[in-house]
Amino acid sequence: MRFLRSRSLGVRLSDASYSLLGHYSKVGLRCIVTSCRAVVLPRFGGPEVLELRPNVDVPALKPNEVLVRARAVSINPLDTRMRSGYGRSIFEPLLPLILGRDISGEVAAVGASVRTLNVGQEVFGALHPTAIRGTYADYAILSEDELAPKPASVTHVEASAIPFAALTAWRALKSTARIAQGQHVLVVGGGGAVGFAAIQLAIAAGCSVTATCGSQSIDKVLAAGAEAVDYTVEDVELAIKGKFDAVLDTIGVPETERIGINFLNRGGHYMTLQGEAASLTDRYGLGIGLPLSTTILLKKQIQYRYSHGIEYWWTYMRADSEGLDEIRRLSEAGKLKIPVEKTFPITEVREAHKAKDKKLIPGKAVLEFD
Ligand SMILES: NC(=O)c1ccc[n+]([C@@H]2O[C@H](COP(=O)([O-])OP(=O)(O)OC[C@H]3O[C@@H](n4cnc5c(N)ncnc54)[C@H](OP(=O)(O)O)[C@@H]3O)[C@@H](O)[C@H]2O)c1
Repeated sequence: MRFLRSRSLGVRLSDASYSLLGHYSKVGLRCIVTSCRAVVLPRFGGPEVLELRPNVDVPALKPNEVLVRARAVSINPLDTRMRSGYGRSIFEPLLPLILGRDISGEVAAVGASVRTLNVGQEVFGALHPTAIRGTYADYAILSEDELAPKPASVTHVEASAIPFAALTAWRALKSTARIAQGQHVLVVGGGGAVGFAAIQLAIAAGCSVTATCGSQSIDKVLAAGAEAVDYTVEDVELAIKGKFDAVLDTIGVPETERIGINFLNRGGHYMTLQGEAASLTDRYGLGIGLPLSTTILLKKQIQYRYSHGIEYWWTYMRADSEGLDEIRRLSEAGKLKIPVEKTFPITEVREAHKAKDKKLIPGKAVLEFD
């Protein structure tokens, strides 16, 4: 019986690293996994601080939560930055934590109020940037609205590269700037995961898109339907033509901010992914850093509204079930993809982080589970 239950969950009995208790309920077989392998961050530092531990506790599911058996998790810049201490004002008291935002896998169990997902279903999704128990684990916990059925046309590895980056782009372009058909969108950093997702979302929304990117990304940016400006060989300011209704700046340094703002139409939206809230709270502590970052943001918003007639935003990834559903549909239709450059087994997580730190992998890296 135990064998049948385990097989129906897609759980391998050969994995000695977790324990299972199964029972039947009205939604079918549910499973309680009490411990599993996970990549733990016990302290901040280089890739060597990452520890793949065999028996990390899996908390009980809350009613709206879903237990996902991980098949692939992608590495985001946030993972390597968190590992190095970015966000320490929030995360330090909560160590040890588990890194990882993106996931693609199968539903292993569902909380009592989960209605849209079932045990055994293939899903993909992403956790909120401040989640403590991340996805670098055999079993991850996400809320129902952070997950959607995996697009059938892509593999787990391909699916795991999409949600965090695409939801970040979605938050900026759709929720903040509310881009509409016929508008002009500038993406600064169109070669990266978020930038490339933004290009594809804007094209799908019927916008015309210009993107800055490096030489290695030109072909993919052009193929996605955008105009490409190579920041490594061109003077970006001279090469960009026209004015824009929305600028998504994934680089967010003073120069790209100045250029982005100057290319906006009045009433347009400038959105940077490099908001200063985390770096200021890391430097000054939560008590001073948070109010200081709010003041800086407000000052910039007022200043640019007055000087340029534009809206200025720091945008952050947020879970958005409607957004994830549209991202799934676009991916299913072949209109939204994020190329995966290299995969590593989860056992080589340190090597993967090392390669990302040294910029040896130009695109997405994904960790695979056996
Ligand atoms: N605020 C949030 O919630 C949030 C969420 C996700 C990501 N982020 C941040 O957003 C940034 C991008 O994330 P990502 O996942 O897209 O990273 P990524 O996939 O590593 O992409 C980074 C890309 O930036 C491009 N680049 C570097 N310098 C550039 C420049 N001067 N002009 C134009 N492009 C340049 C490079 O493109 P080429 O290969 O074409 O040279 C590189 O591939 C990271 O800093 C990340 O931490 C923030």
